[in-house]
Amino acid sequence: MSERYRVGILGATGMVGQRFVQLLAQHPQFEVTALAASDASQGKRYAAACTWRLAGEMPTGVRELVVQPPRPPLDCELVFSSLPGDVAREAEGAFARAGYPVISNSSAFRMDKDVPLLIPEINHEHLQLLERQQGNERGGFIVTNPNCSTIMLALALAPLQQRFGVEACIATTMQALSGAGYPGVASLDVVDNVLPFIAGEEEKIEMEMLKVLGRYDNGRIAAADFKASAQCNRVNVADGHMAAVRVKLARTVDIEEVRAAFETYTSLPQELRLHTAPAHPLIVRDERDRPQPRLDRDAGNGMSVTIGRLMRDAVLDYRFVALSHNTIRGAAGAAILNAELLLATGRLKH
Ligand SMILES: NC(=O)c1ccc[n+]([C@@H]2O[C@H](COP(=O)([O-])OP(=O)(O)OC[C@H]3O[C@@H](n4cnc5c(N)ncnc54)[C@H](OP(=O)(O)O)[C@@H]3O)[C@@H](O)[C@H]2O)c1
Repeated sequence: MSERYRVGILGATGMVGQRFVQLLAQHPQFEVTALAASDASQGKRYAAACTWRLAGEMPTGVRELVVQPPRPPLDCELVFSSLPGDVAREAEGAFARAGYPVISNSSAFRMDKDVPLLIPEINHEHLQLLERQQGNERGGFIVTNPNCSTIMLALALAPLQQRFGVEACIATTMQALSGAGYPGVASLDVVDNVLPFIAGEEEKIEMEMLKVLGRYDNGRIAAADFKASAQCNRVNVADGHMAAVRVKLARTVDIEEVRAAFETYTSLPQELRLHTAPAHPLIVRDERDRPQPRLDRDAGNGMSVTIGRLMRDAVLDYRFVALSHNTIRGAAGAAILNAELLLATGRLKH
């Protein structure tokens, strides 16, 4: 029997599902043994059900797997979920109750008070919430990762909060088309255009950021205590979300201290040398025209956030531009890193 942990992917045919398949194809600890999607795909071999939209070939190991309904039982020990939010709650809840660890990308459970909203570099102590999850007596549980823009913003703010305190953050995002799934936004809406609305996104960022950066305190998360404001735009870029960010800090610091806080930031995933953890979660660039999606989204194998245009701000204290890969650090890569942390800390058992 394989020693690798056997995993299933819910929503395996979608943009994030395909990224899971790609990132897990050569993974040393996980092996994909089950795939699930909508009834339009069920009963077909993955190669027939899925139109592969990533660069390179569909990995051979999954081509013959037959796509299943997203409900237990599935032939695996853990499920990664990239189901749409409206179907995720019922499906993920059913897997957790049936005894499966569920590592989810979807928004369904993110703000539940007993569910960790995990970014391993920032808040691994939030995993203590798992002891409070009710109704999953057979060993199942749910761990979520934040929305793709929240992950990028929270990673950029984490060292500032840790060292100086953050009093306010204003972020304006420019989000890639793959963030809307496939087929996503109609081409006639987005060619020669920018869309200043992404349903639910601004609210998600503002709420999730404060939970992620909050403190575990006696069985609950005390949300971070700063003002967060987000405005979101869909732009004509395939992959890579960007954000123009302004921050007000709790004390006076010079720009070299801010820069050093970004550049030296590492945490538990780097100490544990988790397979998907980037050596540098944050990379600072000095060129005046970086970061750019095409040039910087793959930094750290898509797991690093690139920061540029760092300067003093005349209204708040500092401003900078952040960029990260939305389907890797913002989705599938984030969930895989969460699973690696669970494995390394003894929370996943064969
Ligand atoms: N794209 C990103 O950058 C990103 C980032 C972070 C989080 N997320 C979240 O990840 C999730 C998936 O996003 P995506 O971009 O991959 O979407 P997508 O490309 O539209 O894929 C959706 C997937 O869910 C399946 N599905 C749809 N309706 C279903 C149903 N009723 N029952 C079972 N399966 C169903 C689809 O299967 P069929 O192919 O059979 O229809 C497909 O596999 C969403 O919750 C999204 O908010 C996305």
